[in-house]
Amino acid sequence: MSGRTYFIRTFGCQMNAHDSERAAGVLETMGYRPAPDPATADLVLFNTCAIRENADQRLYGQLSALKPLKLADPGKTVVVGGCLAQKDQATVAQRAPWVDVVYGTHNIARLPQLLARADGATLPVVEILDHTETFPSALPARREVAHHAWVSISIGCNNTCTFCIVPRLRGPERSRKLGDVVAEVRALVADGVCEVSLLGQNVNSYGRDLVAADPGAGPRNRTLFAELLHALGDVDGLERVRFTSPHPKDFTADVFAAMRDVPNVCEHLHLPLQSGSDRILRRMQRSYRSARYLDLVAEARATIPGVAISTDIIVGFPGESDDDFDDTLRVTELAAFDAAFTFEYSPRPGTAAVALDGHLDPAVVNARYRRLAELTRTLAAASNARQVGTVQQVLVDGESKTDPQRVSGRTRTNRLVHLPRTAATDPGTLVNARLTSAAPFYLHGEVTTARAQLGVPTPAPSTAAR
Ligand code: 5AD
Ligand code: SF4
Repeated sequence: MSGRTYFIRTFGCQMNAHDSERAAGVLETMGYRPAPDPATADLVLFNTCAIRENADQRLYGQLSALKPLKLADPGKTVVVGGCLAQKDQATVAQRAPWVDVVYGTHNIARLPQLLARADGATLPVVEILDHTETFPSALPARREVAHHAWVSISIGCNNTCTFCIVPRLRGPERSRKLGDVVAEVRALVADGVCEVSLLGQNVNSYGRDLVAADPGAGPRNRTLFAELLHALGDVDGLERVRFTSPHPKDFTADVFAAMRDVPNVCEHLHLPLQSGSDRILRRMQRSYRSARYLDLVAEARATIPGVAISTDIIVGFPGESDDDFDDTLRVTELAAFDAAFTFEYSPRPGTAAVALDGHLDPAVVNARYRRLAELTRTLAAASNARQVGTVQQVLVDGESKTDPQRVSGRTRTNRLVHLPRTAATDPGTLVNARLTSAAPFYLHGEVTTARAQLGVPTPAPSTAAR
């Protein structure tokens, strides 16, 4: 197998970014090496997403674009994995019969066997499993950047949000043991990682299944998720801990306290709102109401100095009236989100919302979407403008995508910052930067204090805004 190269394209969410790094790790242990693009790669893997419809269209578009390359070079291997493969199974093989392997969300570990079965097969090898045998985080990974790692703490989801396909595709929630997560993070730090993002569909319910199975497993005075944040606070050399996503219905004060008290837990809260209308939240089977959501936002801002709050919002859910949408605008304004991901409702076959009455005209949905996007853009611009003049810690990720003279990084609050490239701005370096100007989705800054390379403990200068 040695000498073969691979290229992975990831669609959709962070869980998929994590799974793609695992798939890359599995391929590399098989002797594959990365290729710069699909045209030159011996193996092309599409890691798919089923959350919203446009990802389907993009996948089939890209598979069609690959067809002539595959026909010209039958030795090229085409693999489709992830949520859409899990959902559509045979459909992928029917619509794109030149694909070699189709696998679901639970079989990354079986890639070597699937590739072996596909070798010489005339029809696509399709394998979809109902359960995970290997927790994906336990697989080898090849990280996209050396200093950052995704760490999945649970997979699956026990909720029944009526718009969402995830529970059907990823199954019920299963948590990884706290000790296993901490051990993985320690190993990652020893390997050069200074920032981890903990992943779960609902991180606040992390560990409930473990405690249910073994009541002695949990701490007495806080949730297992808060316990995990405290445990990661003790990992030397780990500069930043992020997590996504919590669910408003399960949010507990001990997590806010951990975000305040544990120095490496970042001051960024991504808290999906989905709708500001209580009537629509009920139809979505999201069991909190807008008042409770706004209380959480107020509590976060009161507890965690400088916290930035981002959210997900869906517009045009079936039955959403003008008044319901006005409620979403009102709650958005009151929450004063620092950043927001906004989505037009997309009917997903197999979800309960498809059968609800009151599906809206796409033109109405789009007009609402544009109004909400305008509001969230204004709020983000105001939030970033308030940062101008402050000095903040920035972790440099790499060269700016738009300007090779600059590098880009993130503040602890997850704001994107562009800095002039200097000797002190190698990827993975923490610097202090004065923020000099703001746009809605990024800031410009200049380095004030170059901190030591990671792994060398250097106290933060007192000017660092936290
Ligand atoms: N339509 C539109 N947006 C959706 N999301 C999930 N399912 C749908 C859907 N059917 C959004 C939610 C979720 C984010 C990851 O994707 O806002 O939080
Ligand atoms: Fe989907 Fe709701 Fe579970 Fe999130 S919490 S994955 S939106 S069902």
